[in-house]
Amino acid sequence: MNIILLGPPGAGKGTQASRLEKDRGMVQLSTGDMLRAAVKDQSPVGVKAKAVMDAGELVSDAIVSAIIGERLDRLEANTGAIFDGYPRTAAQAEALDILLGERGRKLDYVIELKVDEDALVERIVGRFTCAECGAGYHDKYKLPRQAGVCDKCGSHEFKRRPDDNAETVRTRMAEYRAKTAPILPIYEARRLVHRVDGMGQIDDVTREIEAILDRKS
Ligand code: AP5
Ligand code: ZN
Repeated sequence: MNIILLGPPGAGKGTQASRLEKDRGMVQLSTGDMLRAAVKDQSPVGVKAKAVMDAGELVSDAIVSAIIGERLDRLEANTGAIFDGYPRTAAQAEALDILLGERGRKLDYVIELKVDEDALVERIVGRFTCAECGAGYHDKYKLPRQAGVCDKCGSHEFKRRPDDNAETVRTRMAEYRAKTAPILPIYEARRLVHRVDGMGQIDDVTREIEAILDRKS
């Protein structure tokens, strides 16, 4: 099974993708995570992408589709993919069809996380992660049990994404509205789109998605 999680920044794509990965043995393919790893490694792609990401704009279609292709090549044929943050433009949607077709795969579901954009700015600006193990926290909703110490690994180091400030978040939202939301009709015409309320509790959102995936499979 191959699915796309679609929604604006902070909609919960990454949160839900990592849950599906654990629950279903599928693999999360997050272009945002892949690009951040490239930036950290200072690879040629990372060097090019850094300024674009810090500004909240979109990295070129050719770069992201190439890295998705490489990752698909490393997946076992029967392992499903969860696309998180890809595709984000009509050109990427076309590229994904080709990448999947070439590998004998097909797209089964597009899950759209419906959210209230104003609430998302607070969600994003407040989030931080453990620098050691990547566990996610939030200034308002999920602080570590002991102040300054990661619940999972005991590390004292935390980090925030450079693009998680209010101004850049607004640019990311505008990019979503202008370039990503318009790809929904492509998938609607193929009857692949299922809408989920992304404003509910994290567990409820997961349950709703799981119900959709179980309905047809
Ligand atoms: P990317 O990393 O994809 O960021 P994004 O789309 O802006 O999404 P986020 O990671 O911010 O949010 P999310 O929907 O995953 O939400 P999350 O689960 O973290 O992209 C970053 C940049 O990389 C882009 O701006 C672009 O430059 C570049 N890029 C990436 N892909 C690209 C592509 N295909 N083409 C071109 N450029 C690309 O949740 C957010 C917070 O909310 C967390 O704190 C979480 O705990 C909390 N939360 C989640 N769900 C709930 C809930 N139901 N209730 C309460 N809190 C919740
Ligand atoms: Zn940790």
